[in-house]
Amino acid sequence: MDKIISSQEIIFELEKKIGDPSIDLILKDNIKNGKNYKFKFIDLFAGIGGFRIAFEKHGGKSVFTSEWDKNSQYTFYANFKEIPKGDINAIDPNSIPQHNILLAGFPCQAFSIAGHRKGFEDIRGTLFFNIAKILESKSPPAFLLENVKGLENHNNGETLNRMREILELKLNYKVKIEVLNSMTHANIPQNRERIFFVGIHNEYYKGEFCFPKEIELKKTIHDCLLAEKQDDKYYYKSNHPYYTELEKNVTKRDTIYQWRRKYVRENKSNVCPTLTANMGTGGHNVPIIRDKFGIRKLTPRECANFQGYSPKYILPKIADSKLYYQIGNSVTVPLIERIAKRMIKYLEY
Ligand SMILES: C[S@@+](CC[C@H](N)C(=O)[O-])C[C@H]1O[C@@H](n2cnc3c(N)ncnc32)[C@H](O)[C@@H]1O
Repeated sequence: MDKIISSQEIIFELEKKIGDPSIDLILKDNIKNGKNYKFKFIDLFAGIGGFRIAFEKHGGKSVFTSEWDKNSQYTFYANFKEIPKGDINAIDPNSIPQHNILLAGFPCQAFSIAGHRKGFEDIRGTLFFNIAKILESKSPPAFLLENVKGLENHNNGETLNRMREILELKLNYKVKIEVLNSMTHANIPQNRERIFFVGIHNEYYKGEFCFPKEIELKKTIHDCLLAEKQDDKYYYKSNHPYYTELEKNVTKRDTIYQWRRKYVRENKSNVCPTLTANMGTGGHNVPIIRDKFGIRKLTPRECANFQGYSPKYILPKIADSKLYYQIGNSVTVPLIERIAKRMIKYLEY
């Protein structure tokens, strides 16, 4: 974790990085004026704002954001002109404004349960605890949580059961949990399975909440890939240690590949494999394609396309590794839009 820096420092750094006059115009377009909103939401573990875009689109106004990663804050600020509050542990739940929907794509930090069944005590020290404390303090009508699919079977399903127990029995929500995939549920050609929890407070409950159903995947990888030549830094050069192996295996233009330690893996379903937070750290975990100009990694912009971000979404001039991290950590925006639409309809906002 980087040192905590002041908001002024972030703005100063950011202005240096995005010294492009066209950016102000784009910003105006991205920022909703928030006057005619239908409901209020809070955005926890906000990353680069994937939830926010989706819920603003359906008439929501963000009244509180928390995200502690400095570089994600840059990207967030570039797009929403707001600097998220930092560490959620340092925030008193009572100080958070009243809201209708709590949103949280919390880090996959599954906790182990030693059979205590002591409710809140079992989850103390986890980020799920922070969410639970805010729900306890504010009792918003609904929430949407997101996590990795693996949470489903963690500790033979006990972790998920315990979370559900706390949300339902201690906090008075009816909870619906489902795994959805961006490629089957959002018309986005990325194989990305995530677990979603929608909670409706008992006071507002009027029957089962239904997640969006599968929809046909009409988009192909070419809707997300950029056809023109990209910066040289994304292309593998002939003196690269993996070049021979890549040249032999990365043969088709309609397929996305990945370097897996010692070999090249082809994605047979013609979609992009799951983009991950660590894909930029070793360099070669970023998905690979062959285009007219050579063999190259996906660019951060293409990764953002595979998460359904609009071309107007600003990627600030920070290291590519940071952008890959932020995009891999994010949500597929059109999938969240579909869930948001159903939640708003259910809650009649
Ligand atoms: C899985 S990502 C969520 C990404 C987000 N949904 C989006 O659309 O970009 C989890 C985020 O939680 C942030 N985070 C982790 N611990 C935190 C803490 N204690 N306080 C605030 N943010 C934290 C991480 O920096 C990371 O960006």
